[in-house]
Amino acid sequence: MKLTSKELRNKWIKFFKDRGHTPISSASLIPENDPTVLFTTAGMHPLVPYLLGQPHPGGKRLCDTQKCVRTGDIDEVGDASHCTFFEMLGNWSLGDYFKDEMVPWSYEFLTEELKLDPERLAVTVFEGDKDCPRDEHTAELWEKCGIKKENIFYLGKKHNWWGPAGQTGPCGSDTEMFYDTGKPKCCETCSPACDCGKYVEIWNDVFMQFNKNADGSFSPLAQKNVDTGMGLERALMNVQGLKSVYDTDVFVPIVKKIEQLSGASVTDENAVKAIRVVADHIRTSTFIIGDERGVTPSNVDQGYILRRLLRRAIRFGSSIGLKTGDYAQISDVVVEIYADAYPELAASRDKIAHEINEEQARFERTLENGMKEFEKLCKFLQTDVIPGKSAFRLYDTYGFPLEMTVELAKEKGFKVDIDGFNARFEEHRNLSHAGAEQRFKGGLADTGELTARLHTATHLMHQALKQVLDDPTVNQRGSNITPERLRFDFSFGRAMTPEEVKAVEDRVNDAIKADVEIVCEEMTVEDAKAQGAVGLFTSKYGEKVKVYTMGKYSKEICGGPHASRTGELGHFKIVKEQSSSAGVRRIKAVLE
Ligand code: SER
Repeated sequence: MKLTSKELRNKWIKFFKDRGHTPISSASLIPENDPTVLFTTAGMHPLVPYLLGQPHPGGKRLCDTQKCVRTGDIDEVGDASHCTFFEMLGNWSLGDYFKDEMVPWSYEFLTEELKLDPERLAVTVFEGDKDCPRDEHTAELWEKCGIKKENIFYLGKKHNWWGPAGQTGPCGSDTEMFYDTGKPKCCETCSPACDCGKYVEIWNDVFMQFNKNADGSFSPLAQKNVDTGMGLERALMNVQGLKSVYDTDVFVPIVKKIEQLSGASVTDENAVKAIRVVADHIRTSTFIIGDERGVTPSNVDQGYILRRLLRRAIRFGSSIGLKTGDYAQISDVVVEIYADAYPELAASRDKIAHEINEEQARFERTLENGMKEFEKLCKFLQTDVIPGKSAFRLYDTYGFPLEMTVELAKEKGFKVDIDGFNARFEEHRNLSHAGAEQRFKGGLADTGELTARLHTATHLMHQALKQVLDDPTVNQRGSNITPERLRFDFSFGRAMTPEEVKAVEDRVNDAIKADVEIVCEEMTVEDAKAQGAVGLFTSKYGEKVKVYTMGKYSKEICGGPHASRTGELGHFKIVKEQSSSAGVRRIKAVLE
């Protein structure tokens, strides 16, 4: 079916308006009331006070299209469906209707409005646990609508539980809708839980009945809510039967402009990733700068994410021949595409172009010298690990975001000592940003605090993995932390079972619940070893090292920084366990 992004937005709003919903406009991308996250990541996020019971001026039924940014999967941008910016179509019941209305409406919208083939729809429902019972009622509702029994899958918390958006707040079990791409099953047990690409998620209905507290416990909400979200780009891709989100009308003009400016083509398999990365990152940057509470590139918080996106776009762009000034022209195309739906972009058109050009100029001034420095560094490196202090010099003197150094290093078969980088980073911040730090007093979290908590979680998880897998070969092979998630590579020869994943999560959450103090001591490497501390890169340690002890849960040689107590971490969740390379597994995990 031919359907444009504009038609889809209109269809969505009309469908819910006809069912008593009040359309509301998209909130800012920069959350106003939640200092624990940098960007609005879902449609429900700006609605948290109302989901908790405050009356909304629009009533009990709302619908909208919300601008969202999620950078947790930035490495995956370039494939068919991952984007760092997306639009979420959403509708809400604030203590009004519940499952009996929402499930049939979802089926109706998908099959009658979007004309998706009912035979190819698959849904997942919550299998139940100690917090919330098995959702047989929702499964029955789906069956009544016409979904075949074999296309209804029961899954656990990892897949069928949503929220909260920050570390605390409303959440609940959900039912997710997927479209079968027609690819063959990857294995006997292939289901929407697999990321083999057979099933693409299109919509998520959350039945929001709980509030998650700071200590990780759940208490019932005063009202039962419905919170649903459909990713506009993925929905368009499915409805139109396209191979990627970059083939939809919100991306085609951007891709064409990049092709025209660079001379590269998406049909060239060597260029397609770079074109998509530029398209995605410039689109996201345009929305961040052009937001009603827009920010400009900097070294902290949202400004730093923006800087990373722009510099990553420029690095990929230069590999396909994009030049000075091209990125601002690409952002202009983004503004055109969204001029109707998001008029704030058009109002900031000049500011967006100016900021992108400025950032490009700042980056280019140091890029060439930085690359020379990087090449020199690699030439004289004695091991395969780039020391933290060198990565920090590239960051501080040449403006290389850490993950850019990591990516460049990877291309040469090197790793980067990320803990060492973080230690330098923190030292530097303490020296030069003491004043700026003041504004984070009073419990607000900044990027540094978020990464410190994830760093603490990494230590707890490392120890938990060693215990649960009970295998002497389990050891850290790499670590990468962004404010949104931790990524941890470790040596182990096979996939973990769901039970093992759960056991690791439980151990980490037990350590968090115990709320033990995190103690840092300086001692010699020998003493640290004698005390049984885990040492990650033993060869590079000097005479004295710092050892971080977290009660009985972890003791590790490390440069820091860390949280002060494990109780600050919230709730720990593993979102992915996959192969990284031969004999190495990769885990992505978050604190909620
Ligand atoms: N909050 C849910 C999600 O982000 C549904 O809107 O998927």
